[in-house]
Amino acid sequence: MIKVVVLTGAGISAESGLSTFRDSGGLWEGYNIEDVASIDAWYRNREVVLDFYNKRREQALKAKPNEAHYSIAKLEEKFDVTVITQNVDDLHERSGSTEVMHLHGILRQARSEKDESLIIDIGGEPIKLGDKAPDGAQLRPNIVWFGEPVPMIEAAAQKVAEAEIFIVVGTSLVVYPAAGLVDFTKPEISKYIVDPSTPELYSFNNWIHIKEKAVKGVPSLTKKILENQNG
Ligand code: APR
Repeated sequence: MIKVVVLTGAGISAESGLSTFRDSGGLWEGYNIEDVASIDAWYRNREVVLDFYNKRREQALKAKPNEAHYSIAKLEEKFDVTVITQNVDDLHERSGSTEVMHLHGILRQARSEKDESLIIDIGGEPIKLGDKAPDGAQLRPNIVWFGEPVPMIEAAAQKVAEAEIFIVVGTSLVVYPAAGLVDFTKPEISKYIVDPSTPELYSFNNWIHIKEKAVKGVPSLTKKILENQNG
């Protein structure tokens, strides 16, 4: 089966009601990254960080997948699809995608602050100060914070290097190493980006840029890809 890799960011969940980070009115307008999404913030004030992620977890649980998520899942009918997402919601899984790599972690999980392999599925439950992992350490969100390594980046780069079709949806491509994944694509393959704006740091000269919101641009792209495959 032809390998398709889809790299997604906050823009694909925007129409599910989850705010992006850097658009006007985005999450980072209300918060300082350094105060809520970095390992230093965790050491400085665990409760502020826990509260920030408890709020986002509650919102993510209430959100529903949109047509962009569902149309990516539908590609699995004819293609070997891997979704590599920077998002920490589980909308790709809930729309039916079966191969999802969460580069920056996932809100539905908590882990020991001492042992990152001790992961617990908490659904939409809040994490409170004093909640302990099986090793007795404080539970923390299973999120990759600024200042921490991205454990899945090598595996993700390998998937991108093997892709025969590469699609980018709704990411400003400003956060590394995730943004660097676009450099692992084979030059000769079809590359698409679905985003109403153009991520300024990247020259998309041999890409097809669909300047639409995800709920419009992604279903029409996946329909065309499936039709081409059906011959
Ligand atoms: N449909 C498609 N794209 C959209 C839509 C939409 N409805 N709305 C916004 N976008 C695009 C914006 O044009 C922008 O390119 O989505 C992108 C959102 O960019 P960011 O807010 O920077 O989100 P993202 O790229 O996912 O951020 C990467 O930064 O803060 C960290 O860990 C966090 O994973 C996140 C990472």
